[in-house]
Amino acid sequence: MEQLTLNISNKSEVKIIAASSYNFQIELLEKMGKDDLPDILNISKELSEIYGNHIMIDERNVMKYFNENTLPFLARYNKKIIGYIIGVPLEHFNEESWCKYDTNLNKKNTIYTYAFIIKKKHRKSGGYGKTLKMIYLNWAKKRGFEFVTGHVAQSIVKNFKAKVETIKVFSNWYGTNIPFEYYRRKL
Ligand SMILES: CC(C)(COP(=O)(O)OP(=O)(O)OC[C@H]1O[C@@H](n2cnc3c(N)ncnc32)[C@H](O)[C@@H]1OP(=O)(O)O)[C@@H](O)C(=O)NCCC(=O)NCCS
Repeated sequence: MEQLTLNISNKSEVKIIAASSYNFQIELLEKMGKDDLPDILNISKELSEIYGNHIMIDERNVMKYFNENTLPFLARYNKKIIGYIIGVPLEHFNEESWCKYDTNLNKKNTIYTYAFIIKKKHRKSGGYGKTLKMIYLNWAKKRGFEFVTGHVAQSIVKNFKAKVETIKVFSNWYGTNIPFEYYRRKL
């Protein structure tokens, strides 16, 4: 951790995208600072508990996903980070075997949702997850992306409000024993 924080400033640089009178706001993280790093790493542990090595954001790679080439949005409630969503241009994953199923690879028109998490006690109520996702999608469109994609458990994708296209079903996604769908949504 010490080595990681050597090159980063004390305070994150964020752009506040939306704020409510209930101490809730959504921020675009433009530059990670030492102040937000512990919260982000803590929340990321919850992701690893569910997905193991497949979605692993830790001290070693956190800056790879939270930087100016990605689209990381934070949900903050009462000054504490309660969740985040990270979009990464699809081409970043071109070494991964699943990428070859996406005919948009190398067209630079797709943002891949790498991670989306809200802390347990803030899920389902309050609309935090919905607001975070909505803002992320609007911004991705604003930045010129035409499609958003991601891997989602089939049980969840069928509840998406928006229409999505199934690109490929993976019956046992990275050993989770759960069928996951690689979906595409038009922005
Ligand atoms: C995924 C998560 C952030 C959703 O938050 P929530 O408070 O449970 O939110 P809701 O059920 O109210 O859903 C909010 C929106 O997120 C969507 N959603 C749920 N899971 C999603 C996923 N994996 N990817 C993209 N969107 C997802 C819902 O469909 C809904 O959007 P819609 O109304 O436009 O269809 C939350 O359940 C969570 O943190 N889960 C654990 C981590 C996880 O499995 N993340 C997904 C893989 S990275």
